[in-house]
Amino acid sequence: MEYPFWYVPGIGSPMLIPMVALPHVLVSHFAVGGGILLWLGIRKAYRENDPDFLAYLRRLTRFFVLLTVVFGAITGVGIWWTIALSSPQTTSSLIHAFVFGWATEWVTFVLELVSAFGLYYLWDRLNPKAHQAVALVYALSAWISLVLITGITAFMASSGKWPQTHLFWDGFLNPTFLPSVVTRTGGALALTGLYLYMHISLIKIAPEVKEKVARWASRWAVIGVGLIVLGGLWWYNAVPGYIHDKIAERPTVVTLAIVAVLATLVATFFLAFWGKKEWLVAPLTVLLFLVGSAGFVAGEFIRESFRKPYTIEGYLFSNNVYTTQVDAVRARGFLNTAKWPKAYLQARYPQLFTIEGVLDTTQLPSLTPQQRADIGRAIFEYHCGVCHTLSGYNAIFDQIRGSDPDLIQAIVEDLEDHPAMPPFVGQSWENQLLVEYLFQAMKGGVQ
Ligand code: HEC
Repeated sequence: MEYPFWYVPGIGSPMLIPMVALPHVLVSHFAVGGGILLWLGIRKAYRENDPDFLAYLRRLTRFFVLLTVVFGAITGVGIWWTIALSSPQTTSSLIHAFVFGWATEWVTFVLELVSAFGLYYLWDRLNPKAHQAVALVYALSAWISLVLITGITAFMASSGKWPQTHLFWDGFLNPTFLPSVVTRTGGALALTGLYLYMHISLIKIAPEVKEKVARWASRWAVIGVGLIVLGGLWWYNAVPGYIHDKIAERPTVVTLAIVAVLATLVATFFLAFWGKKEWLVAPLTVLLFLVGSAGFVAGEFIRESFRKPYTIEGYLFSNNVYTTQVDAVRARGFLNTAKWPKAYLQARYPQLFTIEGVLDTTQLPSLTPQQRADIGRAIFEYHCGVCHTLSGYNAIFDQIRGSDPDLIQAIVEDLEDHPAMPPFVGQSWENQLLVEYLFQAMKGGVQ
């Protein structure tokens, strides 16, 4: 509870993360798949001595280089901005736990940029062997970036032995690391396959080249779907118990939707491999690409939602409370421990604090309604605002409407009984002021 919390009305600041992260994650997977396919394609074109196919790959390279260098780099930096603003404690923990992981990732990113430029600008000047080597460096550096970031994102949902040992490798090689790498690599190949269908149906291209690209892309895309399924099942077996319980609660319709999207993709890839290629026309391939992307985004959302109440499993709750701190904070009181809400109240109401800077609870009976509401709001925004807004995303009003304050106080007292929520670390008077504020705010009584 060292950092301030940025309360964004209506959506909550954590929802800003997916707005930047989802386009980034989607595009970067697709750049990884592009890197791998370009390398495989360039090898194939030289082996089969096919200049037309090589010329097509050159066009594709320009797109992937632009995508990585411009979009990937800008949104990647954007993610650092948004996570640092909306979840500073988690960001700090991740930087501290994986400082060399991040450093290595930045090195591989530079390598990816350099090899991408090399691949594109030296296209005509490299001999076939050197050309294939540069393509391999590009593919490998992009894929290694994926591996490194996956170690860290998988860690957030399954921290393994790390909370006990704090050793880099215990965190990095966490239980869901390898399955996630397999799934993400598969996702990268499948998405790129869908992109290639779209590309060849939108540009002017000789029918033989179109045929060749479609067959070639399909083969790798089917392998991609195979990896998604394999990695997904492996992941299911590796996740910690708290996630298993949540998966069990998911409605069957979600599972069916996932199976339906995957089945559609496999059918498409097989059809593009064996069938005639006339059906690969723009509206349909664009639609398929959108379906694949939507499936991907939905998968990321579901995976993230499983992680609640933690941002780092077994170590840090979403609302900035370390799992080991719960009892100590309860004993001192939330407002006495949380630096920023306390500083806010201290600045507004210095008379409520003792000379030592401790909240003086003997003053509570004489608080004015405005003071009570201000304290309640500070607790709500800092302690609940990471997941609830008042009336927008995951609205708290929807949760309390129709209940009476005593019942809500009882729920808050044992908040962790709800599988998505962290424990309430305040004292009972803090609980009372919080709930009082919520009911007042719902009636429109306070600002
Ligand atoms: C880590 C995220 C998270 C945090 C932090 C959080 N909640 Fe929740 N809360 C949820 C989710 C998710 C639900 C379930 C929403 C649903 O079912 O639609 C929920 C449900 C609730 C409910 C309804 C529970 C029930 O049994 O009907 C109440 C009341 C509630 N939250 C109050 C709070 C209060 C007060 C705080 C702050 C002290 C808080 N929550 C903090 C995620 C969170």
